[in-house]
Amino acid sequence: MKPNHYLLLLIILGLVIPGVSSISSEKMYATEPVAGAEKFTSLENTTTNKIMGIAAADCKKCHPSEVASWMKTVHFQSPDLRLYKFEGNTKKYANALGLTSADLLADSICADCHATKAIRDGKTKVISGISCESCHGASGGKEGWLNRHQSYHNSMPIPRAEETPEHRTARLNACDNAGMRRSSNLYDLSKSCFKCHLVGNEKLIAAGHKSASAFDFVSWTSGEMKHNFLVNKSKNADAPSLWMERTGGTAENRRRMKFVVGTLVQLETALRLRAKFTNPAVIPQLGGVTAAASGKLAQISAFAPAPEIQKVTTLMGPLLATLFIPQPNDNETYTKVADQIAEQAKLFAENHDGSKLAALDTMINQLPPHFSQQYKDKYLKN
Ligand code: HEC
Ligand code: HEC
Ligand code: HEC
Ligand code: HEC
Repeated sequence: MKPNHYLLLLIILGLVIPGVSSISSEKMYATEPVAGAEKFTSLENTTTNKIMGIAAADCKKCHPSEVASWMKTVHFQSPDLRLYKFEGNTKKYANALGLTSADLLADSICADCHATKAIRDGKTKVISGISCESCHGASGGKEGWLNRHQSYHNSMPIPRAEETPEHRTARLNACDNAGMRRSSNLYDLSKSCFKCHLVGNEKLIAAGHKSASAFDFVSWTSGEMKHNFLVNKSKNADAPSLWMERTGGTAENRRRMKFVVGTLVQLETALRLRAKFTNPAVIPQLGGVTAAASGKLAQISAFAPAPEIQKVTTLMGPLLATLFIPQPNDNETYTKVADQIAEQAKLFAENHDGSKLAALDTMINQLPPHFSQQYKDKYLKN
């Protein structure tokens, strides 16, 4: 993006214009729903067209601190870094997949992970960096969660504290059914990270693109990506502030749950991708990632044995020797186990609250908050 593009984006986001209304802890009113949210209709088998994009969805109006924090992240910058400049590794990987410079900003596989795409004027194009909706789910459409998630009453604006328990339950269920991934949906939230942080395209990996990030759900959400401002917009809490308030959970318990669920989802996703791989030249990479996640889980199991984790380590046992070499029934074998791991991961997220997992703290304490090089260069240098 050229500098004038950047300024334009800031203006679109309203960041150079003094802020309008926002949420505060004492008064959380559901004010003025976002106009036109219902126009974003869903397509068969894709949610692309329900993505409103940060500007249209007006997330900033009510979530100014979250947006400001997001704009410092490499997620926000990724199209600038990898899609607008057709050079270096970008060019190398694109060429290997037969993609042109224009493709990268339209309907390319690259934009799936390095940006947010939406259908505008009948065309699929890049509308922003990796956005709120990339992780929290597409928000638009008639049944979309955008205008439902913040309304505490069906017809009048009332403060958060006055919402009835029945209304809250119905509202949160409606959001979940509309595909919103909230702080309470630990399994789904961590799954959204791995859909990008594990790479499932063999050609791309063969061209030299990384197959996996050295990803950990605890440390990678607690550095530059942390944006827990909901209850107090000037304090970035260690755990989602609304979730802590709603459940009485603590930041320690949250970290433990994230550690276990994140590792289970990492293993599940790696195995799913491994199932589809056939190129002997790239299989060892995914095999390695899968084996590492499995090893981490075995260690977790040693510190804090739980039936769900033990089931998974038992399932993985016989697979460890074959992960690195293609076998005739890989797809069937690994997909079946991945499905079973998903089941256990969801059960674990439901059955535990982290309070009995203190034995994991030694492992977790070795995971410092993660920041990208870009972030360190720009924001952490004195
Ligand atoms: C009109 C104001 C408004 C707009 C616009 C808005 N939000 Fe919210 N959002 C809220 C309020 C109020 C809450 C707190 C809801 C509650 O108390 O359960 C909230 C809560 C959330 C939560 C936490 C939910 C949970 O249960 O953990 C997420 C995530 C979120 N919003 C994302 C977004 C995103 C992404 C956008 C833009 C696509 C957006 N919001 C737009 C007002 C808004
Ligand atoms: C499945 C998601 C995914 C896809 C598809 C993908 N990338 Fe990436 N890419 C990533 C992630 C994640 C990183 C950062 C890895 C890290 O640092 O942990 C990355 C890093 C990069 C980098 C910087 C590191 C390097 O190797 O130089 C470049 C350049 C890049 N991608 C270009 C592309 C291009 C061009 C395409 C399409 C041809 C593409 N990517 C497709 C997820 C993806
Ligand atoms: C839509 C794809 C996508 C999703 C979803 C996604 N990421 Fe990323 N993330 C990327 C890409 C691509 C990069 C690399 C950006 C670049 O260098 O161009 C990245 C970079 C990062 C970095 C910086 C890494 C470094 O050292 O440079 C962190 C931290 C991170 N992501 C955390 C997360 C977490 C935590 C989640 C889930 C809650 C998540 N990401 C979800 C695509 C995604
Ligand atoms: C990389 C994925 C990712 C992106 C991008 C992202 N979020 Fe989140 N969001 C999360 C995760 C994960 C959590 C839970 C964090 C935790 O457990 O510490 C969260 C939590 C939240 C919460 C609850 C915080 C609280 O204090 O209760 C809100 C509100 C929210 N996000 C809004 C947004 C908005 C608005 C944007 C866009 C500006 C955004 N998020 C972008 C992954 C993401």
